[in-house]
Amino acid sequence: MQRIAGYVKNSVPWLFAQEFFNKPRALGAVWPSSDRLAWRMAAHVPENGHGLVIELGGGTGAVTKALLERGIAVERLLVIERSPLFVQHLRQRFPHVTIVLGDAAQLADLLPANTHIDAIVSSLPLRSLPTHEAKAILAQWQRALAARGILIQFTYDLRAMHNRVLVDFVERASDIVWANFPPARVAAFEFSKNR
Ligand SMILES: C[S@@+](CC[C@H](N)C(=O)[O-])C[C@H]1O[C@@H](n2cnc3c(N)ncnc32)[C@H](O)[C@@H]1O
Repeated sequence: MQRIAGYVKNSVPWLFAQEFFNKPRALGAVWPSSDRLAWRMAAHVPENGHGLVIELGGGTGAVTKALLERGIAVERLLVIERSPLFVQHLRQRFPHVTIVLGDAAQLADLLPANTHIDAIVSSLPLRSLPTHEAKAILAQWQRALAARGILIQFTYDLRAMHNRVLVDFVERASDIVWANFPPARVAAFEFSKNR
């Protein structure tokens, strides 16, 4: 009985449920990302670049796993997550990956100086975060990706997202992953220098 209780307490659904009840707006999801959703996000990341791949909102690690399976080298991968509970889980699950406890709204302060970024892979719930937080995060992305690199984001809003949220970015690809609960749209963007 004790062993079962231990297993449940360390399980991904249990971790997710704790965060859901404590901070629903910061979590912005009712269930962890499916493998299909995570793979679709990872598929947009250039495999052979030399810059960093920054994952924002690593949560329980579905996207981290997909990025590693895609062949992204551990030294290129940096995961930023604001929940201490998830950070502890991610560090146990991926001991060789750099997992940073921090806020995506302070991205520049969390990166080494003169970092080249190939991709930002975000699971952040931009629509459920308070507006000032979402704006601060977007400002960081504009700075980080002004020269190069792509942004990958998913949303449960199945309509196209760039006109409403990511106004300074140009959408390069977008499609719906039905095999997720709930279904989600994954899109890849580049910063638009012309706006
Ligand atoms: C939709 S959940 C991530 C789902 C994840 N792919 C999974 O399967 O577990 C969003 C994540 O973003 C994190 N988060 C929210 N706001 C954040 C912020 N400002 N900085 C860093 N992480 C944040 C939450 O703690 C949560 O882990």
